[in-house]
Amino acid sequence: MLIIKKTSDIKSSEITDKEVFLQRRRFLRAAALVTGGALAPGLILPSSASAGEKLAGVRKSAYRVDDKLTPYEYVTSYNNFYEFGTDKSSPAKLAPKMKTRPWKIAVEGEVNKPGVYDIDDFIKPYVLEERVYRLRCVEAWSMVVPWVGIPLGDVIKRFEPNSRAKYVAFETLYDPEQMPGQEPGLFGGGLDWPYQEGLRIDEAMHPLTLLGVGLYGEVLPNQNGAPLRLVVPWKYGFKSIKSIVKMRFVEQQPVTTWNNAASSEYGFYSNVNPEVDHPRWSQKAERRIGEDSWFAPKRPTLMFNGYAEQVASLYAGMDLKKYY
Ligand code: MTE
Repeated sequence: MLIIKKTSDIKSSEITDKEVFLQRRRFLRAAALVTGGALAPGLILPSSASAGEKLAGVRKSAYRVDDKLTPYEYVTSYNNFYEFGTDKSSPAKLAPKMKTRPWKIAVEGEVNKPGVYDIDDFIKPYVLEERVYRLRCVEAWSMVVPWVGIPLGDVIKRFEPNSRAKYVAFETLYDPEQMPGQEPGLFGGGLDWPYQEGLRIDEAMHPLTLLGVGLYGEVLPNQNGAPLRLVVPWKYGFKSIKSIVKMRFVEQQPVTTWNNAASSEYGFYSNVNPEVDHPRWSQKAERRIGEDSWFAPKRPTLMFNGYAEQVASLYAGMDLKKYY
């Protein structure tokens, strides 16, 4: 993965406007909270579900860190989505054209109830939750994002995995016509497409693991992985695969894109771990996007990105230097 070289292209005048914008949004969110509990699941997505539309009936979850939120403009303009180019600013420019309706998700493999679901049917049975998580990229920067989504574990239970389902493999849409980074060449970093990720079944079932459909109370912008992405807060950001079209339940550890591209640099587990450096740079500290200037000292990276209390037991007895 490339290392970032600039903080942002955002002008200070836009940041001032943002404060006004945030105040309005806080008010709207408070209003949504008052009415939200009464709304039935199934009414949760606006019919067109296009980026930026307000999501109704979102319940605030107790899963929220106290850190200052990364401003919306940074979350949605400083992205890694190699299907739209390796540059941080390319996804915000190129992804908005991607069509996110109709959108199908295939559920395959070791489950009693496989199927192909329309995105709206896929999420309809659930009440949306807002969770504020830290996202720590392997490139040593981080953000704090108010995600909106549903716990992956609740979704998985519905498909009834059998005892051979030891892992879940995820895949992103493959469509070079819509995703220019998937065309041959280096625009998308020369990765093997489609982008693939995987979790052990207990990681996938962990209550912290979220399937994201929105952020800041709104439908997910395409550059952030619309219409459906994974959010695994204790792992490096690349595990949080965007624009998912397939979930396959398997017995063997699945191939993952970054491990396949450079196995000595990116492991299957990729838990945030300040004690295990990337071979080319330290993982001990990080820069908070939108807050820390390039000259400020980096802030220390926390074990499991600060979620050790909740997830350390998943790895009890494992040598995390070997299973990085
Ligand atoms: N998913 C797909 N399909 N393609 C990608 O290039 N990049 C990953 C992850 N998910 C990526 C992806 C990386 S490296 C990071 S850090 C996060 O998305 C970034 O998510 P964000 O742009 O919403 O901050």
